Amino acid sequence: MDYTRLSDANIITKKYMDSILIEPRYIDSVKADISVDFLGETFDSPIMMPAFSHLGNYGGREHNGLEEYSIAAGECNILNFCGMMENDQFKKIVDLNNKTIRIVKPYADHEKVIDQMQFAKHAGAFGIGMDIDHIFGENGYDVVVGEDMTAQSMDMLRSYVELSDLPFVVKGVLSVSDAKKCADIGAKAIIVSHHHGRVPYAVPPLYILPGIKEALKGTDVKIIVDCSIETGADVFKALALGADAAAVGRSMLPYLEKDGVSGVKEYIKKTGEQLRYLMGSTGFGRVCDINDSVLHHLS
Ligand SMILES: Cc1cc2nc3c(=O)[nH]c(=O)nc-3n(C[C@H](O)[C@H](O)[C@H](O)COP(=O)(O)O)c2cc1C
Repeated sequence: MDYTRLSDANIITKKYMDSILIEPRYIDSVKADISVDFLGETFDSPIMMPAFSHLGNYGGREHNGLEEYSIAAGECNILNFCGMMENDQFKKIVDLNNKTIRIVKPYADHEKVIDQMQFAKHAGAFGIGMDIDHIFGENGYDVVVGEDMTAQSMDMLRSYVELSDLPFVVKGVLSVSDAKKCADIGAKAIIVSHHHGRVPYAVPPLYILPGIKEALKGTDVKIIVDCSIETGADVFKALALGADAAAVGRSMLPYLEKDGVSGVKEYIKKTGEQLRYLMGSTGFGRVCDINDSVLHHLS
């Protein structure tokens, strides 16, 4: 797809992110606690890993990039995700870190979807899910690394939710309409995302987030945001606009490639410290207290 000029959702998203400004409030403020309770577990921060796939071994090191960032997530006590892969690769990851949610592709081969989800459950995954934003390609349904994708109905998604008692996460929600359908089928979380710009002119996740938050009021569906989350300030803005957590993405790759587990840990630590600094500087002691009253939008 030609994502040149202004249609590139990555550029639109970054511009929108940078148009949101933060107002400090120091008096009565204290050092913030960035830990969070999420889907029944306590994590050290609301920063999460991306659902990546197809990363090689960097620098000739023992583990591939997927395994290295999964180890780092475990050592940082943050929630881990992984994307398209076969069961043997998933087993390696979940053995390194069982706080991992497996995002399964919308394969046309329905048996493969069921097999990968059941495998994840028996291997000890924290959750399962699907990236619904990878269904279509320019010639109809997409073909991803030789595998055909297909449309997903609410009945199909509901059947995946009913497959196990694991939390089910729908990745690639970017409309109030899809968010409401996710609540209806019993998803425990959604990832508000355009999958690093799969749709030209896609609305920035932070732009659509307040509407999604409002639509999910009264449900127990957790909201994670990704796309162009690079710093603690980006995480702060996502939380202030209604997210429960935010996942980093390609911003992590240089640290991963250069220094593996220790590089990713350093990046996650730095991002968490930036978040804590901003929470202290805006008067929010806990993640669940953060709200949009401190945000200003450049017009
Ligand atoms: C190398 C790579 C592989 C990815 N593989 C998957 C995948 O298999 N499944 C998925 O849902 N998303 C996948 N993604 C998308 C990410 O999970 C995430 O949505 C995206 O990178 C966020 O945008 P950002 O990188 O601009 O922050 C992949 C991204 C990259 C860079």
